[in-house]
Amino acid sequence: MSLLTSVATNSRNQETPPFLGFELSLRLNYNHRVPEELASPINASTRICAVYGFPIKHSASPSMQNAAFAALGLNWRDMACEVAPENLRTAIEGAKATRLVGLNLTVPHKLLAVDFVDAFDESVKMWGAVNTIRIEGRDKNGTWLPIYQFTDVHPEKIRTHGFNTDAEAITRSLREDLNIEVAGSRVLLLGAGGAGRVAALKLAAENVGELFLVNRTHSKASAVAAEIRRRHLNVKIQVGYPRGEVDLCINATSMGLSPNDPLPVDNKQFSLRQAHAVYDMIYRPAETLFLQTAKAGGSRIANGLGMLLYQGAKALEIWSGQPAPIAIMRAALEKNIYGESTVQSPQSTVPKSNAVG
Ligand code: ATR
Repeated sequence: MSLLTSVATNSRNQETPPFLGFELSLRLNYNHRVPEELASPINASTRICAVYGFPIKHSASPSMQNAAFAALGLNWRDMACEVAPENLRTAIEGAKATRLVGLNLTVPHKLLAVDFVDAFDESVKMWGAVNTIRIEGRDKNGTWLPIYQFTDVHPEKIRTHGFNTDAEAITRSLREDLNIEVAGSRVLLLGAGGAGRVAALKLAAENVGELFLVNRTHSKASAVAAEIRRRHLNVKIQVGYPRGEVDLCINATSMGLSPNDPLPVDNKQFSLRQAHAVYDMIYRPAETLFLQTAKAGGSRIANGLGMLLYQGAKALEIWSGQPAPIAIMRAALEKNIYGESTVQSPQSTVPKSNAVG
């Protein structure tokens, strides 16, 4: 039996296990909602975006971006490329030479890429890292335009333009998924590594009412606190646990990625019952012990899927100039990360008025 006959037979015969790949792609929810994806085969007009990381094979980015491209009717595709750090410069130059539409960068490339892009958005100057690149061409009037807009004429020059969409995604996720406005809020932030530092700086930039920073390595929390005091004179910041209640407690540590990890918070110094809302930047598993404990204590909870979603949505908007189809991107991410089961990110169950898209 030829491959094609085998596929056709399997797709008709309900008793036969699905032919992996083909059947699987037909059964994806977002394909049902977005049939255009099947009507738009890859051809010579297809434009490419990519996410670079090392490792990369577990990246959920292509699932959400490809669902979004299909929903927007774009003949674009997003792919994941494993790029070792020593090859990052060459890989970015390669994207420029081959006129990819844009790139996303993930661990460990965000800091390294600052040295490899030709132009910076304000967001890169603010957060010191690049997670999104738009490839641009200069027209004969000297205007830089997204490269995909050059269909017939050739650009005089091509450049990479770096952006950072991570910090904005934190506050957007807090707003959309937990209904929290950072300005004026009392917040306990656990973790002062890469993600914790950006979160602390973003909360300060948004005029957080009072910020408490806790980190296993005390000196790192002190360094972040000092940086915030330098940059935001009016923000109240302390290293250590708060007394009384807080509006929000955020986990920005890696504690919870493994099933046997203890809580990232010291129970003797702070009970999660003191937090009205609790956010875990970890999204796999959907409910860490931290979130389960918070939920049992009556706090509202959300995981970091929203951060992943909103940084990707902003990247899509930077690349395409079109509003991101948020609901479709969220559904594609949940499908990719949590599979066919009924497990979803906790914020999927928040009232519709809080959901986006
Ligand atoms: P990311 O870029 O994801 O933030 P990171 O910079 O390595 O990664 O930061 C990891 C965070 O998890 C840090 O806050 C780290 O605490 P230290 O600064 O003391 O290393 C925290 N973390 C990692 N393992 C931990 C553990 N076993 N107990 C408590 N905190 C831990």
